[in-house]
Amino acid sequence: MLERLRSGEVRSLARAISLVEGRLAGAAELVKACREYGGTGLRVGVTGPPGAGKSTLVDQMARWLRQDGLTVGVLAVDPSSPYTGGALLGDRIRMQGFSEDPGVYIRSMASRGAMGGLTRAAEEVCTLMEAAGRQTILIETVGVGQDEVDVIGLADVTVVVLVPGMGDEVQSLKAGIMEVADIFVVNKSDGGGAERVESEILAMQGLTERRGGWVPPVVRTVATTGEGVVELMETVRRCATEKKGLRTRRLGLGAAGGGLDHLGIAVRSIAAARGFYEALGLTVSHEETVEHEKVKTAMLPLGATRIELLEPTEDDSTIGRFLAKRGEGLHHIAVHVEGIDEMFRRLTAQGIRLASDGVRVGAGGHRYFFVHPASTGGVLLEIVGNATGSAE
Ligand code: CO
Repeated sequence: MLERLRSGEVRSLARAISLVEGRLAGAAELVKACREYGGTGLRVGVTGPPGAGKSTLVDQMARWLRQDGLTVGVLAVDPSSPYTGGALLGDRIRMQGFSEDPGVYIRSMASRGAMGGLTRAAEEVCTLMEAAGRQTILIETVGVGQDEVDVIGLADVTVVVLVPGMGDEVQSLKAGIMEVADIFVVNKSDGGGAERVESEILAMQGLTERRGGWVPPVVRTVATTGEGVVELMETVRRCATEKKGLRTRRLGLGAAGGGLDHLGIAVRSIAAARGFYEALGLTVSHEETVEHEKVKTAMLPLGATRIELLEPTEDDSTIGRFLAKRGEGLHHIAVHVEGIDEMFRRLTAQGIRLASDGVRVGAGGHRYFFVHPASTGGVLLEIVGNATGSAE
């Protein structure tokens, strides 16, 4: 079953989830085996009061992810519903036109179907979906009770959806939801009243303690037309990279967990160069001087990848010599791999010319080595692994 699940086959995923929801024989073993492959998807929680348009918004988010080439699992959790995996869901899939697309798998879950606790069951379903290769999991919860706060705790990034005209919108929310929110969405923002909700959120934020300096942005959407969804998804990714420090693997890039990590650009002065990128709408998420490379770096997240600006701290350094010889410009491209030590050994064993004599630790604690342009078709290639001490 694990093998069929790993192949991504939708039917075995559905059967595996039923097995786990029902706590049937073999369920615990299956979940345990899946844990080896789980934790690889980006989990995005979407919650908010009833009538806020969460389902429609989740559909739009799924559509955007599909256009970006990513597979999607949707887990719709409704603690008040007696249905699980049931008829309501079938209607929903037909309604949204995903029935022909195996890249979107939608599953509903109700408290009655989840023996041993809703949050635990939801976590296990996420793990199964990830083991089956789902690159992004959208966890939708209905309402704003304690169950929802617990379930949404499974998410890497939490989106709280509000709408104008619900009375004292923000005040009616449980404090718990305010605290877990990474991003606020004001949905149905075309009908007036969006400013009021937004200012209520901002006022409330002043009272909420924030960890890590991330102030939850407010994004306006009209889920029925898809307006604002691009901005929302870009904000989700920015939150995943900036606040959570999640790497490309968790952003679901590349079948083997690889992906473009960043583009390294050599500049004489970061202070002078960054202005252009900021005008593009990018922001510097991380600045660091890497002493052993004699280089100052600034990272600007761009979608799921990043631009790395490199400024030499001395002329006699790799970047200093590059600038003297070639001037400013693209210096290297970097790809992310799982198992960087293994990759280093493999390339060395194959006699591939490397430009590093070992795996080193660079900006942000991430491990890396360089492959010489003579081996790659003329491009200096950086191989980036996971950060030292990272949970991945
Ligand atoms: Co680099």
